[in-house]
Amino acid sequence: MFKTFLALSLFIACIGGAGAAESEREPFDDRYCTTCHGTEGRGNEGVQAPRLAGMEPWYLRRQLENFRGDIRGVHPEDREGIAMRPMATKLTDESIDDIIEWIFGWEYIPAEVTIKDGDPSRGRGLYGGCAVCHGANAEGNESLGAPALAGQNDWYLVTQLKNFLAGYRGAHPNDTYGAQMRTMVSTLRNEAGILNVVSYINTLSR
Ligand code: HEC
Ligand code: HEC
Repeated sequence: MFKTFLALSLFIACIGGAGAAESEREPFDDRYCTTCHGTEGRGNEGVQAPRLAGMEPWYLRRQLENFRGDIRGVHPEDREGIAMRPMATKLTDESIDDIIEWIFGWEYIPAEVTIKDGDPSRGRGLYGGCAVCHGANAEGNESLGAPALAGQNDWYLVTQLKNFLAGYRGAHPNDTYGAQMRTMVSTLRNEAGILNVVSYINTLSR
């Protein structure tokens, strides 16, 4: 674990070292994403980097632009977002297009279930309000800007719900979509509610 973090810090230090303006013009290998996000973007719990395979292109683009534009990953308590943000600040519009195309070619395999201490039957009731935007099967809804949740790493969904609840995500004045989600997360109230709703999402497939 420590070795992974050490390697990552060195990695971040290396890519952070080049002059920003200069490296933006240089062609670079934007294939470093799998270092954290795992083979074919299947997610990597060790560094808390979620599954990217199967992610909707419009949602992927928005998040990369949010990280790049300092809308996400800037709260001092948002450790995982802070790890991700420098990966996006290097990206040009063209490299974002390339990455989206590249990721689109990856095989989508629903993530393994790891959350065992939630109650899916209680979660089902809570999910009723979520379905309005995320869909009855958590398949996502592009016109409302709400991503698919089914098949995503459950530990990542838990972290994001906690982040929205604590205001680490979705509090930036330009984060229109994040703000909508922040209003909704209050219905879950606490950690037990979060675990229950994520356990229910684990029963859904798209
Ligand atoms: C140093 C490790 C690391 C690298 C390298 C990295 N990421 Fe991430 N990424 C993370 C972590 C950790 C998170 C979770 C952030 C959070 O919890 O808010 C994340 C989150 C994301 C998200 C948000 C997903 C969502 O569901 O909202 C996207 C999109 C993403 N990364 C894309 C990429 C792409 C594309 C690359 C390559 C250009 C990349 N990442 C490289 C660590 C990394
Ligand atoms: C009013 C519509 C709406 C409702 C209702 C809603 N959400 Fe969301 N949710 C969104 C939007 C929009 C986003 C994308 C935010 C962004 O772009 O950062 C989102 C993002 C999320 C994310 C982050 C996904 C990721 O990959 O990072 C999770 C987890 C989530 N919602 C869970 C829920 C749960 C659980 C509920 C019910 C308690 C819920 N949402 C209710 C609109 C909604």
